[in-house]
Amino acid sequence: MVLSTGFSKLGWFAYHPTFQSLGIAVMVVAIETLQPTATPLSKKLGLVRHQNLQIAALVLLSLGTSTMVINKITHSAPHITTWHASFGLVSYIWLWVQSTIGAASVWWKGVAFGGEVKAKRMWKWHRISGYAMLLWMMATVFLAGEYSDWARGVSGPVFRGLGFGVSLVLVLVGVLGRMRVGKMRFW
Ligand code: HEM
Repeated sequence: MVLSTGFSKLGWFAYHPTFQSLGIAVMVVAIETLQPTATPLSKKLGLVRHQNLQIAALVLLSLGTSTMVINKITHSAPHITTWHASFGLVSYIWLWVQSTIGAASVWWKGVAFGGEVKAKRMWKWHRISGYAMLLWMMATVFLAGEYSDWARGVSGPVFRGLGFGVSLVLVLVGVLGRMRVGKMRFW
């Protein structure tokens, strides 16, 4: 949609859907790289890939969110006026909390949680929160694609249904289908 409108015609806004989509795509690969890891070595390498990809996703999603805020400022438009914007703000804050807790549970041997053993106990919460956050982000994207004036103005219902409905469900089927519920035992 951005490319067919013309990237240069959209000003700061062009970066928002572009970076957010790329960020989510990288985040999904970062999750999949841990689903599942076969050997202790592949687990170790998977964890390194997970961190690098999540840092890349965090950078992309930060650029995507800040360019949207800048876009609103340059047009003197009010902030957080739609469900998409509210869901997006929660997504972005959640992403930082998720990333900070994830990093704190691995970096410096989990000293932030009182050592490696205690830090690893956080992982099941990190897993469940990560999957829940992905669901929330998919809902955020759905709201933008189905209900924003911009999306409705530049594309029809079939294209939006495929891009912001079917494709998001397929991403969820792909990711949640490979989830190992046994790793999240709470009892
Ligand atoms: C990938 C597809 C996306 C599209 C097409 C899209 C599109 C839009 C549009 C058209 C707006 C302005 C209208 C409105 O406020 O509803 C907007 C605002 C916003 N979006 Fe998105 N968005 C996408 C993804 C995301 C994601 C994944 C996040 C969060 C991580 C996000 C966060 C926000 C926020 C916080 C605002 C409001 C900014 C403000 O009010 O200053 N968006 N988006």
